[in-house]
Amino acid sequence: MDAVDDANQLRETSKNEVMSFFESSPLLKDAAEIEKSLKEFVDRNTSSSGNLNGKANRVVCITSGGTTVPLEKQGVRYIDNFSSGHRGAASTEYFLKAGYSVVFLYRRGTCQPFCSSLPDDPLLECFSVADDSSIEVDALHAETVKRAITENRAAVAEGILLKLPFTTIFEYLQILRLISVSLRDLGPSAIFFLAAAVSDFYIPWESMAFHKIQSASGPLDMRLVQVPKMLSVLRNEWAPMAFHISFKLETDRDILLANADMALKKYKMHMVIANELSTRKEEVIVVTEQEKVTVRRDNTWAGAEVECPLVELVVDRHSAYIKKFDA
Ligand code: PMT
Repeated sequence: MDAVDDANQLRETSKNEVMSFFESSPLLKDAAEIEKSLKEFVDRNTSSSGNLNGKANRVVCITSGGTTVPLEKQGVRYIDNFSSGHRGAASTEYFLKAGYSVVFLYRRGTCQPFCSSLPDDPLLECFSVADDSSIEVDALHAETVKRAITENRAAVAEGILLKLPFTTIFEYLQILRLISVSLRDLGPSAIFFLAAAVSDFYIPWESMAFHKIQSASGPLDMRLVQVPKMLSVLRNEWAPMAFHISFKLETDRDILLANADMALKKYKMHMVIANELSTRKEEVIVVTEQEKVTVRRDNTWAGAEVECPLVELVVDRHSAYIKKFDA
């Protein structure tokens, strides 16, 4: 068997794994509604009046937060993946500023765009009851609350920000597939910016306990199956013309770049953004076939975020990518 046969066989195997993952997943409850809102979003951003946010037809799908793996169908216990959602939420703001429209696929309860300066519990910390009929915003938080509400609502109302929530790995991958199919016709104008922390192992729905697992039965033995890596399918089948960016998170700096390089080649990503857990808010390394660029937060002012120069660089490389198709 030669290298081409090997590659074809690998592709067939991963295709089969992906198909059986979706076939055995619980049905997405609001699939029809999601499809409808995606269609409206794409129509609005590709109509002759154009993308309402400046850059013709440019749309980015940003995934954010961690997926969960339920251990029981009734969903009492689950395995979680670390991600506060800050990277995805902050990047959404910078892409909107750069003129892109954004599909924000986020884990319920994680950070939201325009809300990063709010305290942990905004409802209890930002508001006071003035009298029986009115609630007031405390002066200290007034500007932050105003910005969070007006900018977020304006982006949603203008149709340049579509927010889609997920909790489980089953929901995440089914919604990602719907998004990629909806954005396919945008070709190179679409970006996939995959910052979500996605589960690598799961319990297939058909072998999952229905009721809460009983602790009286003693220690728990369970077998987790590998989640098929969706990057190949996304890249090759669902949205083959789009600009694909995946992330690589490690806690061991010594293996970070080698693993990012491997992901770039194996999944044919256009860019892999490598980050170390402890320094992820300070710097990231952008790895492409041609370069490795370290992007740092501007530490001369307190509110600066690494996502600002990161998104600038992504927009620059994406523009160059689109130009190749225009030539
Ligand atoms: O949210 P914050 O707290 O701000 O933190 C940001 C972050 C550290 C979570 C983010 O910057 C980041 O690195 N996200 C990716 C974390 C991750 O899951 O890495 P990974 O090595 O497990 O996966 C690499 C890529 O493969 C990811 O882009 C993921 O979308 C993809 N993947 C993973 C598993 C799987 N079964 N299929 C996939 O396609």
